[in-house]
Amino acid sequence: MKEQKPLVVSSLRSSLLFSIDGKDAPTLSTTKVQNYKGITFSSASSNDQNTHPLISQFGRMDYLLPSLLIEAEDGSYSGRFVFQHYEETDSFSSPSPLPASRRKGKGISFYYVDDHIHATLVLNISSFLGIEGYSFSVSVKNCGKKPFCIRKLSSLQLDLYGDSPEVYSLDGAWARERTLHKTVLNGGRMEIDSRCGASSSFHNPLSVTKVGDLFYGINLIYSGNHKTSIEVDSFSRVRIESGLNDFEFGYTLNPQDTFYSPEALLEVSDTMEGISSSFEKLVNNAILPPRFKDAIPPILFNSWEGVYFSFDKEKILSMAKEAKDLGAELFVLDDGWFGHREDDSSSLGDWYDNEKKTGGIASLANSIRDMGMGFGIWMEPESISEDSDLYRKHPEYAMTIPKLEPDRQRNQLLLDLTKKEVLDYVIESVSGILDLTKATYLKWDYNRNFSDIYSSSFPLGEYGYRYMVNLYKAMDVLTKKYPDVLFEGCAGGGSRFDLGILSYFPQIWASDNTDPLSRLSIQKGTLLGYPPSTITCHVSSSPNGNTHRTSLLSDRFAVALLGNAGYELDPTKLSLSDRKEIKEQICFLKRERQFLHSSSLYRLNSFEDKETDIYEFLSPDNKRILLLFATTKEGKIPVSPLFLDPSGTYLVAGNKEMSGKDLMGKGILFDGKIPKDGNSCHLKTRLVFLQKK
Ligand code: GLA
Repeated sequence: MKEQKPLVVSSLRSSLLFSIDGKDAPTLSTTKVQNYKGITFSSASSNDQNTHPLISQFGRMDYLLPSLLIEAEDGSYSGRFVFQHYEETDSFSSPSPLPASRRKGKGISFYYVDDHIHATLVLNISSFLGIEGYSFSVSVKNCGKKPFCIRKLSSLQLDLYGDSPEVYSLDGAWARERTLHKTVLNGGRMEIDSRCGASSSFHNPLSVTKVGDLFYGINLIYSGNHKTSIEVDSFSRVRIESGLNDFEFGYTLNPQDTFYSPEALLEVSDTMEGISSSFEKLVNNAILPPRFKDAIPPILFNSWEGVYFSFDKEKILSMAKEAKDLGAELFVLDDGWFGHREDDSSSLGDWYDNEKKTGGIASLANSIRDMGMGFGIWMEPESISEDSDLYRKHPEYAMTIPKLEPDRQRNQLLLDLTKKEVLDYVIESVSGILDLTKATYLKWDYNRNFSDIYSSSFPLGEYGYRYMVNLYKAMDVLTKKYPDVLFEGCAGGGSRFDLGILSYFPQIWASDNTDPLSRLSIQKGTLLGYPPSTITCHVSSSPNGNTHRTSLLSDRFAVALLGNAGYELDPTKLSLSDRKEIKEQICFLKRERQFLHSSSLYRLNSFEDKETDIYEFLSPDNKRILLLFATTKEGKIPVSPLFLDPSGTYLVAGNKEMSGKDLMGKGILFDGKIPKDGNSCHLKTRLVFLQKK
């Protein structure tokens, strides 16, 4: 087959050009980017003699890590997929059981056939309507009469060309989630992956790789085991592939069945900041549940860091009363209200009221509503304590291996969500609590990782994928059944912060670490690919419960503005001056939240700067700007805002007039003098509004 004209999938500021020119066709030939300043870059990805295919198969003459590995019934695993044809698509959609992005625009589906295993493979690449970015997904159908086993199926493969790619990954652990790291890959292969069942705090599925002039940002719409690998060879070829982790993976596909890879999203830009701002728009418009897109979340107070497990009805009501007086709109009762839960050793799975503590959860919820606030509640639906009625009745619901002592984390086990009866139990128990309490907010926690996986019904290589399919089923059913409830994802802090969760829940708790200095790093990493509205950020008390560092209330608030701001402390214990300050902060939030929520966020200094963070919130009409500045460095730093009108006049910080030209040239001078008292974080923050006259 010969085809001269390149096929193009174009986004707003970039294009992917494909060639169809031989037996290994099609190939990605070029990516082009036009940045917002109007400069055009292009990165030739196959200007060498080698072909750069969009899929790669093991067992042939390609020795880089393959994107595809299928074991045939005869035991062989030498891929024989041959390209057949392509179809141009409009608004591609797929019957995949996994969540998918919306608003797809023009794209191409490439069809391949393997006559040995009798299978078809379809690779779909789509642009988005009016949004920068691309979607990649792959499906394989068994068209034969014998089953085969999919050992690996990446969602996206990019073969690029360049030396020493720079890889940006988001790594961490509990309380240190999504710390940004840069690795220069001079040779060999780097893998960014998770094997613990969840997308994890160890390595987030989001990564950015710079090859030549261009940055390639990749994320998966998936919450389980993922893997992105970046490999360089001696001929300056850089292969990036991303998708399900193939570690211990193996999915048996029966005749006539189709297997779907998770969708991968790709952003191409000439800057890291460009990747971040494109992902912000893509996630807002194509991933988040549409009904929450313009909905402003209520200002909430959460009970956890204020009282942990020790509370009774009177205590919660007194906290709620104070919170209301400060301006709160929602009060959230966190862990400790169910079964006989006094600490983390019992009761998960017993989703009924601990009346001794709550005095009746339905009436407690009513009393809070009577104060004029919404009521929110915490659950951990996927977990089970061995000390629970649920475990005593249904030990087989737990994720354990028969006759083996299971590993416990936080004294608990997970439920085996691959079982239909467990899925039903999860849906019923969450529905039961929402019906009983009429809560308008639910924090869905998940406090441990997988261990002891076992099933007598299917091969274990399918376990993680099947768990995710059922988790998404539960989330889909519940969010459709309770469309007015605001669900917040959480996972022992932010250990499952990903686009799979965000496809159903519009916000996720970023980390149990609420220290503002730690949060700046966690939130910077998160903002690389997730919009601020998705990142829940709470102002807590000082010294911080995790780091024991002290910080100023104003700094804690400024840092929380980089996400979805709320409070998590005991409001009955505030000093008079803190009370006054929090009241003012909440007035500020109420006044500015429409602006904050509708703005686009831009990072003004390098993502690699470890001492200073400078962000710009820009209103949709480009007339209002909030500069948020945070530093641990002494000295003066000039900041030039983006997207100003050089011929316009701006009111800076409500009093000083400056021309757009001056602001772009000289900028605003931020004085980095760090206040010493009560500030062992050694942090200084400043907020400055600019208003075009
Ligand atoms: C996790 C969450 C916290 C809190 C506790 C309750 O750690 O991240 O916010 O809800 O569980 O046990």
